[in-house]
Amino acid sequence: MPLQDITFTVNLRTVSVTVDPATPLLDVLRGPLGLTGAKQGCDYEGECGACTILLDGLPVRACLTPVGKVAGREVLTVEGLGTPDALHPLQSAFITHGAVQCGFCTPAMLLTAKALLDRVPDPTAAEVIEALDGQLCRCTGYAKIIAAVQAAAAVLRGETDAAPAPGDPGLPVIGGSALRVDSVAKVTGAARYVEDMRVPGLLHAHVMRSPHHHARLLALETAAAGRVPGVVAVLTAGDIPGENGLGDYSEDEPLLTPTGATLRMLGAPVALVVAETPAAAAEGAAAIEARYAVLPHTFDVEGALAADAPRIAGRGNMLSAEQVQTGDFAAALANAAVTVVGEYRTAYLEHSALERETLLGYLDVAGRITVIGGTHEPYYQQKYIAGALALPPKQVRVILPPTGGSFGGKQDPWPFVATALAVHRTGRPVRLMYTRQESFAASPKRHPYTVRNSIAATRDGRLLALRAEMDANTGAYDSGGKWIPNYAITAGGGPYRWQAVDLRARTVYTNGPKSGQYRGYGTAQAAFATECLLDELAQALDMDPLALRRQNALADGEVTWLGYPAGESLGFAEVLAAVEPYYRALLADAADFNSTPGPLRRGVGLAGMWYRFGKSGNLRIEAHAELTRDGQFAIYCTAPDYGQGTTTAMAQMAAEALGVPRTLVAMTSRGRSGL
Ligand code: FES
Ligand code: FES
Repeated sequence: MPLQDITFTVNLRTVSVTVDPATPLLDVLRGPLGLTGAKQGCDYEGECGACTILLDGLPVRACLTPVGKVAGREVLTVEGLGTPDALHPLQSAFITHGAVQCGFCTPAMLLTAKALLDRVPDPTAAEVIEALDGQLCRCTGYAKIIAAVQAAAAVLRGETDAAPAPGDPGLPVIGGSALRVDSVAKVTGAARYVEDMRVPGLLHAHVMRSPHHHARLLALETAAAGRVPGVVAVLTAGDIPGENGLGDYSEDEPLLTPTGATLRMLGAPVALVVAETPAAAAEGAAAIEARYAVLPHTFDVEGALAADAPRIAGRGNMLSAEQVQTGDFAAALANAAVTVVGEYRTAYLEHSALERETLLGYLDVAGRITVIGGTHEPYYQQKYIAGALALPPKQVRVILPPTGGSFGGKQDPWPFVATALAVHRTGRPVRLMYTRQESFAASPKRHPYTVRNSIAATRDGRLLALRAEMDANTGAYDSGGKWIPNYAITAGGGPYRWQAVDLRARTVYTNGPKSGQYRGYGTAQAAFATECLLDELAQALDMDPLALRRQNALADGEVTWLGYPAGESLGFAEVLAAVEPYYRALLADAADFNSTPGPLRRGVGLAGMWYRFGKSGNLRIEAHAELTRDGQFAIYCTAPDYGQGTTTAMAQMAAEALGVPRTLVAMTSRGRSGL
């Protein structure tokens, strides 16, 4: 369409832009107008709600709204809602109620809530939920958001005072206010996530990926891609100066698959195209010609371990295995009156952090490769970038920005190393930003498990023996999967007293998506299987599920089935006691509900687990402190904050240790001398 001059009002200011009227309003806001509070989380499909703004007072998806339809109308973005010095009551309430975590959804939530309160001054919780329907938040669980909206409504009605502006929470710091140090920036749209950052001369990277689940790459022809206008570089395995891989994190996962090697999953990376615009990079990737020999594939562990299984990894399809046997199994079984047997399967899970994988790389003034991106382990990323680029680690820097959620997914080193490679080969700043579809296809998932287990017990509910065989599907590549058996076994026995255990766990390659880190990292699936079977046992014994767990709960100081005490405090029995009144009340509610005939039935679940703290490998989190000339304390800390509030907790600890108010502590998410 021809360009048109379009005039409208944004945040009470009249603006004019000359654009194709079909351009999404979101692109105009985030681009020429520089208003990056509205986010993009779903490839412009109108699904996530992160782009929501108010148009003439009503919430609309800015990604689906052509800017031509906005002419002469009024737009409100989060930047116009309030300022750090004069927050809107909704902004204050979101902060004080802890409704802001990663903050990526927050601008859209605030505006949608404002539209509701303009229309309904005293909404019920159900009305808040209905109004926010379609506004996705992956962090908070919504309860605090709903509470914040209702609290703000009371302030706007004049029934309560506005929450005090976040200021000095005073002493003591730990145990005092837990207002997050970064929440004002997140409720005002000032927080700069990687896709909000503007850099002159920025290039864009696009990944060419395998269209097959399992195939040998026979030939790659990149000349046509190089001729696409705007394409600056087409990078293949031969362009990697150092290790074509991700070090010890994923021992067999190439950064870019070389000709002659196999691609083990749909979406496995083949080449990286770097161009002046995202569209040119995508066009360049589409112009690469590849020839494949398609190979048989399997998605499940049974298929991968069968005698005629396709050979996925060179050394065989089993990545790792561990076994723990303790106690006298035969003696335990001899005393058993009841044995229950189960088989449980869990599915792939996708993190779906609202912010997609987005990285920005550049050469800093000292010529160091610098990558800004949300992750859990910046030193790991530094190490793997250095390895792939054959550089000393001090030539590589990783900076942690505000991060729109991770849940484990952003531990994957692949996008970091790929971004660094693009910077290294072009000498220019580069942004790599997955599409949502790409994020689903190429990011690591939670390992699906198959668990076959059995429990032996006495008639009065004393647990005797647990046996389990746990197979974790690690998909196409290692991606940290080799450590999974260790976590599976530890969680599989749980916080219970067993006379004997025989726990085996394996991680197996398939041609499914690569599995990796995901909240709890291999533990939730194992605990799920054990807890399900404990419920079966309770049913077989006609015993109360809580009483069964309480009778067998490990006590503080007791030697566990792993052969050593759990540490200074286990607390499981106390947790069960604390939960009991709520559990009984819920059971009564469910029984009451179920006494009325109807298609809906209610049930109440109860499960326990423990989680092993500590991390396989050498995690490095450093912190340094400086006293600045104006009497502040500058704390440089590399413990990342991807929404869980680490920055706030670190500031609290530093202030407490220094004996100063938290406002005298300024946190920076990096090492003092660069990472
Ligand atoms: Fe607009 Fe997702 S709904 S970006
Ligand atoms: Fe809502 Fe993170 S706080 S997505």
